[in-house]
Amino acid sequence: MQTTAITNIGLIGAGHIGSQIARLAVANGYNVAISNSRGPETLSALVAELGPRARAATAVDAARAGDMVVVTIPLKNYRAVPVEPLAGKIVIDTNNYYPERDGHISELDNESTTTSELLQAHLPTSKVVKAFNHIYAAALTTDGQPPGTKNRRALAIAGDDLGAKAAVSRLLDQFGFDTVDAGLLKEGWRIQRDTPGYGPRRTAAELRRDLAAAKRYAEQ
Ligand SMILES: NC(=O)c1ccc[n+]([C@@H]2O[C@H](COP(=O)([O-])OP(=O)(O)OC[C@H]3O[C@@H](n4cnc5c(N)ncnc54)[C@H](OP(=O)(O)O)[C@@H]3O)[C@@H](O)[C@H]2O)c1
Repeated sequence: MQTTAITNIGLIGAGHIGSQIARLAVANGYNVAISNSRGPETLSALVAELGPRARAATAVDAARAGDMVVVTIPLKNYRAVPVEPLAGKIVIDTNNYYPERDGHISELDNESTTTSELLQAHLPTSKVVKAFNHIYAAALTTDGQPPGTKNRRALAIAGDDLGAKAAVSRLLDQFGFDTVDAGLLKEGWRIQRDTPGYGPRRTAAELRRDLAAAKRYAEQ
């Protein structure tokens, strides 16, 4: 369990989701190191918008800088995520599988694994938590509400490390969302593309119902 306070968030990916998570992180007082594939010099406009808590980095630098690191890139590039600087750290995985974008990945096509299990296998000593994969990027900064709000939007997480899941749940709460624990990483398919909970606004009770109703692609 990661017991030290999390003050620095690293981001690998600075697109629709990465930039939005960076905005939420800065707004909640975290320092942010954000990276993309083209290099820090291409992130000057985003970093200027984010303000003094944010800086542009390489992926390796962002991985080193983060107490917690978000991987938010096209799934096909997951093997490029640096391994050693993420050792032992909580890694949030927002990624989804779109064969038309990512090419076909046989273990996902035959449903013998899940997207976040692939990232976990690539990062064997990191604590991967699936999160933020089923909310449209724009909604991240519009749908959040204070803790205790009636019918607050909930987001699903999945992961194999309870302490890491608790830390991610606290982050979600700060960002304005309730959490529903979908279980181990291998249960992450319940919130993958084309499942009932993927995309729409859901309260915790609705999201639990959707997770329970999810069907494998082969059964759809
Ligand atoms: N868009 C959504 O509403 C949404 C919602 C939930 C989940 N997701 C999932 O979250 C992931 C990110 O989605 P997105 O919409 O944010 O994608 P996006 O807008 O296309 O941005 C992808 C980002 O990843 C960076 N990147 C690519 N390869 C990299 C590498 N090897 N190292 C470091 N950075 C790299 C890109 O940098 P460059 O631009 O420099 O190449 C870009 O900043 C995807 O798996 C997606 O399916 C998306």
